[in-house]
Amino acid sequence: MTTTVPCRVATRRRFLLCPPAYFAVEYAINPWMDPSRPVDADAALRQWRTLRDTLRELGHRVETLQPLPRLPDMVFAANGASVVDGRVLVARFRHPERAPEAAAHRSWFRQAGYRPTVAQLPNEGQGDFLPVGDLVLAGSGLRTSPAAHREAEAALGRRVVSLQLTDPRFYHLDTALAVLSEDQIMYYPPAFTPESDRTLRALFPRAILATDRDADVLGLNAISDGRHVLLTDAAEGLAEQLRADGFVPVGVHLPELLKGGGGPKCCVLELHPAPGGHR
Ligand code: ARG
Repeated sequence: MTTTVPCRVATRRRFLLCPPAYFAVEYAINPWMDPSRPVDADAALRQWRTLRDTLRELGHRVETLQPLPRLPDMVFAANGASVVDGRVLVARFRHPERAPEAAAHRSWFRQAGYRPTVAQLPNEGQGDFLPVGDLVLAGSGLRTSPAAHREAEAALGRRVVSLQLTDPRFYHLDTALAVLSEDQIMYYPPAFTPESDRTLRALFPRAILATDRDADVLGLNAISDGRHVLLTDAAEGLAEQLRADGFVPVGVHLPELLKGGGGPKCCVLELHPAPGGHR
């Protein structure tokens, strides 16, 4: 029996990134963070630049959010807002340490010509809200509150599918699940309640399932343009699984930022376009 590998097509994306100019691990709000472990700020900046340059080389547009002092997690731009079809819902961070990041995102979006609304309930942006097809997959349990899913549904104008996260190491949806194309995802089933896992299996019967080993290096924190999938170079098993499904894995090396509990996807906020795209 022969299996056909799907043909995967890239589309040009636009991403908002924030350089890790003030990156540090000064507090611990997820189990990956250990303030007693030294961070090499220069290495963090070098590794981040490689990620940015890789996105550009793949033909994507990169916008820059100005980093602010005393906000060491601001490099994780994904958490500042959700953007779906050009509609923007600015985050409300669960931890006071990150709360001021929301205002910076709000002003960036206003200046860029969007009309952002600000979430009233705990909501960590694209860390927990991932558009796919005509749905938005949403995580709760550790950061974003379940009620925030309903608030997002109204603000973003799309059906939001609620998924419950259970493991503190996978505290945002984008640490346990990545959208690969309009009809394909990869995820780590043990990070979800059995009911949420059933929901995902029903929606994506051919989903790529990650092993413990690949999930443990944050291999699911990946950026896809529909064809190329940027993920940590440590997730070798996932790279193989992606290849077998027609995708082109692109390994990136971000060990310094992993000390903050983030990988490549955490560093980018995709400016999800209105139909017609960003060309
Ligand atoms: N230190 C940050 C936090 O715990 C990391 C955020 C990672 N971002 C993400 N989209 N998963 O909030």
